[in-house]
Amino acid sequence: MKLGTLFLTNNLILAPMLQVTTGPFRRFCRKFGDIGLVSVPMLYTKRIEKNPNTVLSDLHKIEDERPISVQLIGSETNALKCSIDFLESYKFDVLDLNAGCPSKRAIKAQEGGYLLKDLDRLKILINTALKYSSRPVSLKIRIGYNNLNDLDKLLNVINNSGIEFMTVHGRTVKDRYSDATLNLNAIKKIKSLSKIPVVGNGSIFNPQNAKNFLELTNVDALMIGRGSLGNPNIFNQIDQYLKEGTITIPENNINNMIINIQLYERCVNEYLENNFEIPYSHEKYKFVELKRNLIWLSKNVHDSTDLRIKISKTKTLEELVSILDYLN
Ligand SMILES: Cc1cc2nc3c(=O)[nH]c(=O)nc-3n(C[C@H](O)[C@H](O)[C@H](O)COP(=O)(O)O)c2cc1C
Repeated sequence: MKLGTLFLTNNLILAPMLQVTTGPFRRFCRKFGDIGLVSVPMLYTKRIEKNPNTVLSDLHKIEDERPISVQLIGSETNALKCSIDFLESYKFDVLDLNAGCPSKRAIKAQEGGYLLKDLDRLKILINTALKYSSRPVSLKIRIGYNNLNDLDKLLNVINNSGIEFMTVHGRTVKDRYSDATLNLNAIKKIKSLSKIPVVGNGSIFNPQNAKNFLELTNVDALMIGRGSLGNPNIFNQIDQYLKEGTITIPENNINNMIINIQLYERCVNEYLENNFEIPYSHEKYKFVELKRNLIWLSKNVHDSTDLRIKISKTKTLEELVSILDYLN
């Protein structure tokens, strides 16, 4: 499919999720089937301006993962320009600007979701990105700051700006993640008013959610975040359902969990090859990645409560491996 000027194998995108959609995670999800585009989570422009070395590990081997998007978050044009200059030597496909993060830290720093109530600043940042980036620029927003009153103004800023596409999470910044607040009608409205392609995002946890989302909103593509935690197959399942109307759900049992975590371990090992430099040991990195994903991969396994408690108590890679060896 075509998303702006990008050619993607399908209309599914893995969301940027800080400390979740890491290099190993993105590679792992792609082992289960096509994913049109994957995303590097937000990099702080202030941090890059001050010391770009702090983000080297986030950009490690991204050239092997194309098509891939890299996201920046910030509120200052100088820091944004400096970050774009720094990123120019990397091979990636889209530069994404974060105008949706609802965290207290982001709002205090007047970046992320805050930009939805400071549209002048948003406009300046978009223009800066478009001026200095050699890659297409996309924007990730929510449907508003705390209501939909400024939707027309927001679309005025976006339409004709030169942005390639926008991703819209169907909640306001103030809604944060509350389940009840997902507003697909607002996304439908944004799509109908938008002159650029729209990617829809929010609470897609299974193929039926995805189909429903597309039918209700008419968006061009879907972005999936939390639905991929412990279910890397979700992209494949959605793709199959949208194309063929069928769903194949693998059984959630210990055997499949072990096969999946072994595959994850191979993704981490591949990623760590060739002197990957991080501020702590490779063993620690591997432990954190495997533990987090093992907890997600075991979440729907029948009778796994004791196992999950044991996993959550581990403090070293050795302890984690011994639990897996025992299960094997
Ligand atoms: C742990 C976590 C970290 C996130 N980090 C980012 C981020 O770095 N940049 C961003 O634009 N959104 C981030 N998000 C928001 C997601 O990209 C996505 O918009 C949101 O989770 C809604 O989609 P979902 O319901 O499919 O998860 C994060 C969400 C979670 C749960």
